[in-house]
Order: sequence, then C-alpha cells, then structure tokens
Amino acid sequence: MIKNDLFLRALNGENVERPPVWMMRQAGRYLPEFMEIKKKYDFFTRCQTPELASEITVQPIRRFGMDAAILFSDILVVPQAMDIEVQMKPNFGPYLPNPIRSIADVDRVVIPDVNKELDYVMKAIAMTKEKLASEIPLIGFAGSPWTLLCYCVQGEGSKTFDKAKEFCFTQPEAAHQLLQKITDTTIAYLKAKVHAGVNAVQVFDSWGGMLSPTDYKEFSWQYIQQIIDALKDLAPVIVFGKGCWFALGDMAKSGAAALGVDWTCSARNARYLSGGNITLQGNFDPSRLLSPPEEIKKMVTQMIRDFGKDKYIVNLGHGILPNVPVENAKAFIDAVKEFRP
Ligand code: CP3
Repeated sequence: MIKNDLFLRALNGENVERPPVWMMRQAGRYLPEFMEIKKKYDFFTRCQTPELASEITVQPIRRFGMDAAILFSDILVVPQAMDIEVQMKPNFGPYLPNPIRSIADVDRVVIPDVNKELDYVMKAIAMTKEKLASEIPLIGFAGSPWTLLCYCVQGEGSKTFDKAKEFCFTQPEAAHQLLQKITDTTIAYLKAKVHAGVNAVQVFDSWGGMLSPTDYKEFSWQYIQQIIDALKDLAPVIVFGKGCWFALGDMAKSGAAALGVDWTCSARNARYLSGGNITLQGNFDPSRLLSPPEEIKKMVTQMIRDFGKDKYIVNLGHGILPNVPVENAKAFIDAVKEFRP
C-alpha cells in the first residue's frame, strides 16, 4: 500500500481533500543537485545507470515533496532500443545521425526484447521503488508513436517537424509501418515497466498539436488508443497531448484514466471538451513559474478553483523550464498543499 495515495485516488476519480501535484520534467535541469550529477556523467549514462536514474528521480521529492515521482529517463531510449542511433548533444538536444526516410530504413528498424535492451530502466524502477519506500506512487512514461516518429524522421528537434510530416504525407505506408513498430515496442515497454513496479503510466504526445485534427487521428491517436487498450487494465494511463485540445472528446472515451491539458486551453473549455467526467491534469504555463512566488501561489489557487479540487491533478501545461528559480517551483507545490476548499 502507498501511504500518500492522493494521486492514485484522483486518477480513479475519487473525491480528495486536496488535488495531488507533480510537475512534468520535475527531475532535472532547474535543480542544483541535478546539475552536480550532470557535470560528472553524460545524458545516456545518467539514464542507463540505475543508481543515478533513481537518485535523480527522488531529488525533487526530497526537496519539495510532490505527490508522485516520475522516473528519470527519456522518451528517446525507445528508438535507441529499436537500433536507431540517438545522441544527446550538449546545448543542442537530441541528434539522430541516420534519420529514417524510406521504407528500406523502416524495414531495418528492430522490435526489441524490451526486457533485454531496456533492462536498465526496469532496474532503475526497482531501485527507485526502494528509495520511495511506499511513500508516494511512481509514474512510468513513454513518448507517443507520433512524437517518436518526429525525432526518428526529422533527426533532431524542430519548430515544424516538416520532414516528419512530409514523410507521413508522401510515404504513408512506410510511416504507418514505422508507427506500428514503435507502438508494439511501446506496449511491451510500458507493460514491462508496470511489471517492474510503476503505479501509473503517462504517454507524452509532445508534438501531437503539430497535426490537423484529421491527420492527428490517422498518424497519432489510433496508435495511442492501441497503447491505452493494452495497458488500461494493468495501470492507469494518462495521455498528455500538447496542443491537442481538439482531441479531448475522443480521448475522454478512450479508457485513459486522465488527460493532460496545456495552458492554451482554459479549465472550463477542457472540462467541456472532455465531457466533464474524466480526471484532467495541468495546465500552469511553465513560464508563469518565473512570476514572483506570491503571485504563483495566487494563480495556482485560482487554477484549482477553475478545475475543481476533484478529478484534477495539478501540474504544468508542459515541462518545467531550466531557468525557473527553485523557490518558485517550491511556491507552486506549496500552494497546492496549502489549498483548502
Ligand atoms: O521529470 C523528468 O524530467 C523525467 C525525465 C524526462 C526527461 N525527458 C529527461 C531529460 C522526461 C519525462 C522526458 C520526456 C521527453 N524527452 C519528452 C516529452 C516531454 C516534453 O517535454 O515534451 C521529449 C520531447 C523528450 C526529448 C528530449 N530529451 C529533448 C527535446 C531534450 C533536449 C531538450 C531538453 O528538454 O532539455 C531531451 C534531453 C533531456 N531529457 C534532458 C533531461 C533532463 C536534458 C539534457 C541533459 O540533462 O543532459
């Protein structure tokens, strides 16, 4: 049994004393103790070493006491396990030297044995569970197939992901084969993570909002739906689609336990579009953590009133920015813990 089960109760739609809180990308770059580890070990060493990954996972919990931890890792460990080379270049981000551009490239992509290739993730989960000592739940995650395709085809981050979209629109069969291979791998990976001990899983569709609603259904949503179908009886599934407010209606009927919302959608609209009954998670503008702490607290309290304290998980609308002062992150978490209906 988990001592603080606010997060799991909110995912289950139960009434709570106050909403639970965690922050997307909470383990990382804005924390001085993380920067100390970063100085000594490169990115994938941090991901692949269970001692380091579990330590980084619990760092924000020790400091702020969130209601859930998220395993330190990256969405790009999945393409790596599929035999697609991924580098993390300092001050640049992900770089894939051999991007996928043809059906022949797709044919070479491997569906791996996740327990072998991603064994280090399962070990990091076991070690993190020990460190958390049943105090709070642990979230496991994966990128959506579409968001992973974006990196695999584009070869790097992008404001438009034009090459990824061109690939989908000019070679749809190859694109669908790649999306299916990623989906099959992701399902096996998330099942293994649940087996290893995570209490919930989140699918990050960070670039879903790049697609039109029609293209979203074809190139992103149908694959996320497969993941939900395969996982929902094993663990609660959270779907976060950045810029995907238009899909909230379909998402609400999918079997997902909760839906992420970004800050461009009001609480009222998000409740309306999702039918008013499913747990929502979000949606503080990450840049608003640059406001003074007192203002952050007022805005968070208002956000909880707007969403309502039940069927709600307080979070940011996307990942925390590296330049957020630690005391501002603390104000965000404290405001939720101090919330009284
Ligand atoms: O709380 C956490 O931070 C958990 C760990 C986590 C990381 N990446 C660590 C990381 C999570 C949940 C992710 C998810 C991720 N990775 C996403 C989806 C969420 C989102 O923000 O949209 C995406 C698109 C990626 C791909 C990725 N990884 C990018 C674009 C970058 C470079 C830019 C950046 O965010 O800093 C990374 C590198 C990365 N992943 C870092 C961290 C802490 C920074 C690099 C480093 O520490 O050396």
